[in-house]
Amino acid sequence: MEIKDCLPYLLHQFKSEQDVFDAIAEISAKFTTNRENISDYLHDERLVSAYTLYYLLTNIPKFEGVLKWLPEEFVNELKNATFIDMGAGPGTFSFAFKNWSHSSKAIYQVELSEAMKKQARLLWNGFFTDSELIQNIPSQVDGPTVMFFGHSANEMGVETTLRYIERINPTHIVFLEPGTKDFFKKMLLIRDRLLLSTWNQVYPCSSNAQCPIKDKDDWCHQYIHHVHTDELERVGQKVGINRRFMSMTFQVFSNQNVFQTAKAKLMRVKDETKFSFEWVLCHNEQIYEVQVMKRGLNKAQIKELSQALAGRLIDYQIEKVLEQGKLRIKLLP
Ligand SMILES: C[S@@+](CC[C@H](N)C(=O)[O-])C[C@H]1O[C@@H](n2cnc3c(N)ncnc32)[C@H](O)[C@@H]1O
Repeated sequence: MEIKDCLPYLLHQFKSEQDVFDAIAEISAKFTTNRENISDYLHDERLVSAYTLYYLLTNIPKFEGVLKWLPEEFVNELKNATFIDMGAGPGTFSFAFKNWSHSSKAIYQVELSEAMKKQARLLWNGFFTDSELIQNIPSQVDGPTVMFFGHSANEMGVETTLRYIERINPTHIVFLEPGTKDFFKKMLLIRDRLLLSTWNQVYPCSSNAQCPIKDKDDWCHQYIHHVHTDELERVGQKVGINRRFMSMTFQVFSNQNVFQTAKAKLMRVKDETKFSFEWVLCHNEQIYEVQVMKRGLNKAQIKELSQALAGRLIDYQIEKVLEQGKLRIKLLP
């Protein structure tokens, strides 16, 4: 999908390409530098349109990218679940879900801003005719449901997020939120409260135990790399946003306990040496420095591992304990 495909379905008709760039730069600055007036954009149809244009096209690959980290059975369950887009904005993630799942079930969107709701309806009606868009909190839904928070729990805050969860009581919850220390603190407060209740963590943790970086000045790093269309890359360059490396806080919970994985999470990729990959893993609530030797790997495996990013899950076996508790590990398929 390209920018021109979306233009007819925006609330605001931009006069020129430069006009589009200016509005995207303005909205992007709101999320980074001028956060004190963060909610201004919600009532401005020009900025809502710029938001839609840029984030729709970048959130689609982001959504599909993070699904690769989840257990296959969970992804299959998600495909058939009813999607409840919380703080949906113009519905970028409803769109990404529909585009990926081809589900014909009705989609629910919960959103406060009238301009966003109007924009979301315009976009939905422009692209999808085979499933209903319901801009309301669901009352009674048959089958599994997933509550999806895309860059919205950050704006709602911890208590509102938890109140929505309690009220809707879904089968699964997905958070795809900013990859920042600030949001991670909020995420841990939400995580603690969910795990004290009936929820189980599906990703990124291998159990429901305490997060080992809870009291550290750090966050659980997760990145995906995506090369966008030439046109979108050009917009990114013009407005000075790099969306090739997308950082995020991605956390998934389920009310069913069958989806938990025993795998370790790649926390941080350090500079590789001539002989090895040097990583930091989080496994069973412990942080480990590990080393994966290149010897014994073929060229394709070395190339693939040299592109590894924080966020992926890893199955491994310990080969040797090195100095200061560092582990030499062998990756399992
Ligand atoms: C940064 S936008 C994200 C929009 C969309 N999820 C996306 O990722 O493209 C955050 C959205 O959360 C909405 N929001 C904030 N607080 C809310 C609340 N209490 N209830 C519903 N929506 C809320 C805002 O109106 C805004 O549209």
